[in-house]
Amino acid sequence: MTKPRLFSGMQPSADSLQIGNYIGALMQWRGMQDDYDAFFTVVDLHAITVPQDPAQLREKTRRTAAQYIAAGVEPSRSTLYVQSQVPAHAELAWILSTITGFGEAGRMTQFKDKSQRYGADQASVGLFTYPVLMAADILLFQAEAVPVGDDQKQHVELTRNLAERFNSRFGETFVVPTPVIQGETARIYDLQDPTSKMSKSAESQAGVLYLLDDINATAKKVMRAVTDSEGVVRYDRAEKPGVSNLLTIYAALTGREISSIEDEYAGRGYGDFKKGLRDVIVAEFEPVRARALELLEDPAELDRVLSANAERASEAAEQTLATVYERVGLLRRG
Ligand code: TYM
Repeated sequence: MTKPRLFSGMQPSADSLQIGNYIGALMQWRGMQDDYDAFFTVVDLHAITVPQDPAQLREKTRRTAAQYIAAGVEPSRSTLYVQSQVPAHAELAWILSTITGFGEAGRMTQFKDKSQRYGADQASVGLFTYPVLMAADILLFQAEAVPVGDDQKQHVELTRNLAERFNSRFGETFVVPTPVIQGETARIYDLQDPTSKMSKSAESQAGVLYLLDDINATAKKVMRAVTDSEGVVRYDRAEKPGVSNLLTIYAALTGREISSIEDEYAGRGYGDFKKGLRDVIVAEFEPVRARALELLEDPAELDRVLSANAERASEAAEQTLATVYERVGLLRRG
């Protein structure tokens, strides 16, 4: 029986992924590989919608791929490749951009946030059409499931709208995808500013935990995480955002219920709780970091695996693209 398709990706926008990427997306990816024909992509074409240093971009792309593998994505089972190596992404994005409304694209909150940060003159047209490229990623593979963190929900909604619009205008072509978003763990917050989403592009790095960072630096960041003055390890997102975020991370990494962690630390202070969490994070990160660094010692082999996977992805993508060109009325090359 053929398995349903799954698609997801991450931007190679930093030297390392952060714990939000790991808990919000990678842990889900790892667990879904058995049940889906999965495509996991390093979305370098998305990354260049904001300025990137060329040499660093190449390095970050490899580092991102290495972290996928180190975290448990298996390139022999799932298709793990680099977006720019499959030209169909950009080709389908163009077609989809012709059925996307200007206002519709302008309502994407991530675009609004980023364009505000960069200013109207610095924000590129590519940043504006970013969600259309993301829709193309997903629709090219006829993906049913798209496991992402909470912040990508609006983009997957747009993807669904574009798929339905295309299907009704040109005939049934695309599978309409469903976002797979876990509850609490779909949004991990900054350890220093626990009301803001943790992000690689945060101004201060003090509250961001990176998979590939020196493990002592990570341990220190955990011990310095913002809490509150109550001194009770108790989940309350509104009143105790810092402690609640730490509890969410603890529960996600151990597979335990939040209430059982609260019980364990009842009557003990935040110091003990943070030490416990630090040990959990160190135990989780250390093998992933070691494996990723090992993979990065042989970039030629990593590049070879990525190219072979891009070949596999191209075959699947070209099938969809051929149907799309046909439906839209583009003249076939003889
Ligand atoms: P990106 O690179 O920003 O993030 C990668 C994944 O990590 C999730 N994530 C988080 N989850 C929980 N808490 C956080 N603090 C946190 N920060 C990030 C994101 O939701 C995402 O799942 N546009 C996408 C990449 C993309 C994509 C796609 C994803 C391009 N094409 C097609 C799915 C399908 C992005 O920028 O993710």
